[in-house]
Amino acid sequence: MKRERAIDAAGVSFTYEEGTKALKNVDFWADRGQFVAMLASNGSGKTTLIKVLVGLLKPQEGRVLVGGRELSAIGAKGLYQEVGLVFQNPDDQLFGATVEEDVAFGPRNLGLEEAEVSARGAESLSAVNALELRKRAVHHLSFGEKKRVALAGVLSMHPSTLILDEPTTALDPEGRERFFTTLGDLNRRKAVTIIMITHDIGTIGQHASRLLYLDRRLIFFGGFDDFCLSTDMTDYFGEHSQHLICHRHDK
Ligand SMILES: Nc1ncnc2c1ncn2[C@@H]1O[C@H](COP(=O)(O)OP(=O)(O)OP(=O)(O)O)[C@@H](O)[C@H]1O
Ligand SMILES: [Mg+2]
Repeated sequence: MKRERAIDAAGVSFTYEEGTKALKNVDFWADRGQFVAMLASNGSGKTTLIKVLVGLLKPQEGRVLVGGRELSAIGAKGLYQEVGLVFQNPDDQLFGATVEEDVAFGPRNLGLEEAEVSARGAESLSAVNALELRKRAVHHLSFGEKKRVALAGVLSMHPSTLILDEPTTALDPEGRERFFTTLGDLNRRKAVTIIMITHDIGTIGQHASRLLYLDRRLIFFGGFDDFCLSTDMTDYFGEHSQHLICHRHDK
C-alpha cells in the first residue's frame, strides 16, 4: 500500500534576493509517520528548505504539497495544525511574557475554548518536562529551558508533522536524551511525522528511519543501510562518524 505523504516537494529552487542560490532543484518528501533526519554542512540550504516547506519562503521554481494540498490552498490555521516548525533559536519563536501565556497563544488563536487552551498547555509542557516552568517569565529562562518551551508551544497545536531546526544544540546530555525520547514517543505512539535537522550523528541512528543529505541540491535520501554503504557519508562526515551511525544502527 502506498503511504500518504505528509510533505512532498518537487523541483524546488530558491535564490535569495542578493543572488545566493540556496536550493537547486531539490526533491524531498516524507511519508506520514516517518522520522527523517536532515544532515548537511553549514550554509547548505537546510533552513532555507524547511522555510520553503512551511511557506515562509516562496520558491522561484517547484511546488510543495502538505498533506496532499498545495501550500497556497491551505489557510494559516490549517497549516499550523498540519505542520509545526521549531526554530533553531528559541528567541525567534517565543514571545509570551510567561511560559503559560506563550504556550496558550497558538491554541487560543485557533479559537479553542479556554479550558481546552489550558489543557493543551499543561499537556504539551508536561511532554517536554517543563510543567514546573509555567508561571516563569520567558526572558528569565535558560537557553535549554527556552528550547523545551518552544517545542511545547508547537506541540500545543497538535500538528501532524513536526519540523525541527537543530533542536538539540545547546542541550546537556540529559536534556538531549529527554528530547529524543519525547520525539520518539510522539513518532511511535502518535504517528507524528518528524523532520529534523541535526548534527547529532551519534543519536539519529536510533530514531530516524530515513536520512536526507543536502548540499543546496539533494545528495542522498534514503535508509541508513544504504547511507552507510554510500561514499557520500565518508566523503563528508569521515570514517569516525560512519562508525557512530552505522554501528549504533546495526544494534
Ligand atoms: N536572508 C538571506 N539572504 C541572503 N542569503 C541568505 C539568507 N539566508 C540564508 N542565506 C544564504 O543561503 C545559503 C543557505 O543558507 P541556510 O541558512 O539555508 O543554510 P543552513 O544549511 O541552514 O546553514 P546552518 O547550518 O549554518 O544553519 C547560505 O549561503 C546563506 O548565506
Ligand atoms: Mg540553518
